[in-house]
Amino acid sequence: MSAPLIVLVGPMGVGKSTVGQLLAERLGAGYRDTDEDIVAAQGRAIAEIFVDEGEAAFRALEKEAVRSALAGHEGVLALGGGAVLDADTRALLAGQRVVYLSMDVEEAVKRTGLNAARPLLAVNPRRQWRELMEARRHLYEEVATVVVATDGRTPEEVAEAALDAV
Ligand code: S3P
Repeated sequence: MSAPLIVLVGPMGVGKSTVGQLLAERLGAGYRDTDEDIVAAQGRAIAEIFVDEGEAAFRALEKEAVRSALAGHEGVLALGGGAVLDADTRALLAGQRVVYLSMDVEEAVKRTGLNAARPLLAVNPRRQWRELMEARRHLYEEVATVVVATDGRTPEEVAEAALDAV
């Protein structure tokens, strides 16, 4: 059975897909993203799934997407920012090389701003970010084998730091 070389976790907008693709290039490996897997399988945007069926239904789809990507992908795998909310999904990550890309609240507000494609940030982004980070930081830390801070760093610098750290 194949397994990912590196799993990336961290909040939306932290650069998981950009950094993940850079890491995949450097490692000569493939890149996969569970958000993309879900969109392809469902034939709908993530925002639509949230609106039509709610967050719990999305998390259930996400858990299955993580399970099959972990079992079937040799390369770099990026998870959606909220994947760690689900205890089963966190358990699936045990024994994996998991890099948590972190950023502070001000960096998050600066990077994402008001982004309608991200349903969790539709109103009052600064407050939402503060609450989201408070609720999730310890979950990212729980699953991570390595933490790489991204504040003030380019994606290339973050990828280098991640490669040095794993
Ligand atoms: C979410 C993050 C998104 C996506 C969905 C929910 C979250 O992924 O899975 O909108 O709960 O933080 P990205 O982190 O890839 O943007």
